[in-house]
Amino acid sequence: MNQTEPTNPSPIETNDSGPAFGSRPSANLYATAPRERRGPGRRRRLRRVLGWAAGVLGVVGAAGTIAVLARENRTFTAPAVDLHASTDAAVIARGRYLVTGPGHCAECHGAPDQQAARAAGHEIPLSGGVEFVLPVGIFRVPNLTSDPETGLGRLSDGDIGRVLRYGVRPDGRAMLPFMPFADLADDDLTAVISYLRSLPPVHHAVRPHDVNALGRVVKAFVIAPKGPKGLVPASMPPAETAEYGRYLAHNVANCVGCHTRIDLRTGAPVGPTLGGGMVIESMTAPGKKFVTPNLTPEPRWGWIASWPEEVFVARFRQGLLRAGSPMPWNAFKNMSDGDLRALHRYLRTVKAVEGGPDPSRNDSVLALGPE
Ligand code: HEC
Ligand code: HEC
Repeated sequence: MNQTEPTNPSPIETNDSGPAFGSRPSANLYATAPRERRGPGRRRRLRRVLGWAAGVLGVVGAAGTIAVLARENRTFTAPAVDLHASTDAAVIARGRYLVTGPGHCAECHGAPDQQAARAAGHEIPLSGGVEFVLPVGIFRVPNLTSDPETGLGRLSDGDIGRVLRYGVRPDGRAMLPFMPFADLADDDLTAVISYLRSLPPVHHAVRPHDVNALGRVVKAFVIAPKGPKGLVPASMPPAETAEYGRYLAHNVANCVGCHTRIDLRTGAPVGPTLGGGMVIESMTAPGKKFVTPNLTPEPRWGWIASWPEEVFVARFRQGLLRAGSPMPWNAFKNMSDGDLRALHRYLRTVKAVEGGPDPSRNDSVLALGPE
């Protein structure tokens, strides 16, 4: 299936005549660990991001305040997503697999006080509440259970589909770019929505985000929703092929989002695809940073270049081994052997590049000193 031709319509900003959709940088918040406590390591990046934001503020200048007021709640239009939840047991089971496995939704939406139960292999309520403390404010992860007041009971199936595919809320405001699911195939998106609809309601009101002054500027000038990168397939049936592995790595499990170097100020990739070298702070051990390994088949620098398929599959079954790692091992551990084989086959086809942590030193994935 060709997923590179951009034929899907993208969200369009409605009350602004600025540059076209997609031309503005967006902060890649996905790669930023949520923090319930503030660690010393966070300040360094904070300064870096603030440096960029100061630039934005400089450009905005004195007249900026008015501009911010006019633009911070700008709305976007995006195509309606005509998908409907199913009560078919097989569809719900597929959704459950995607949510608890490759899609790793509980990593962010899981109840924060039950993460230990999740690490022990239990399914925990997706009732939200995790806080991301960012330079632009404190962002809280919403409740995805079916509760009609505090959960997804408030949204129609189409609203949920649109927010995940186009990043546009029912009222037209943009969501922050925390989630990389715009390119999920129609039937997988339907399965995810069907599973979410099946979740027992948990009444848990998550407090609204606290967006600070800087965040308001970012909302006004930087955040624009990203639509699908290409033609979204109607269906992507699992197969032990490199093609399906590519779908998992790019559209579902976000291997590319962490194993590719990204400029945190712009969200743009600055390193080769899956070449590793991205520094990510731990979610559970504030201040501890990791460097993602190079997943390409380069013989010297490819971290897994010498791993046969069975070793790769077995490694995922083991789950988290490096304490504090931001990689969602607890969810990926639930992936099927077939999906893991597909991923391995895809990773063998990626363009080999040098760089990333040194595979001859097991601890080279730990970032030392200022990045
Ligand atoms: C990296 C963290 C992260 C992961 C992983 C993640 N989410 Fe989210 N999600 C968020 C954040 C943060 C928001 C709120 C964004 C905002 O308000 O701008 C959100 C918002 C949502 C919303 C909108 C809810 C509402 O009430 O407006 C839905 C639906 C959703 N997520 C579903 C999912 C599903 C399904 C998955 C897994 C396939 C998932 N999320 C994985 C962080 C995450
Ligand atoms: C949220 C960021 C993130 C995501 C998403 C992610 N990784 Fe990782 N990955 C890391 C980090 C950080 C490390 C180094 C620490 C560790 O080994 O846990 C790592 C390590 C690895 C390793 C080496 C493990 C070892 O034992 O040496 C492999 C293999 C790997 N990732 C593959 C993948 C694949 C395949 C995907 C997608 C299915 C993926 N990663 C998604 C962050 C991520």
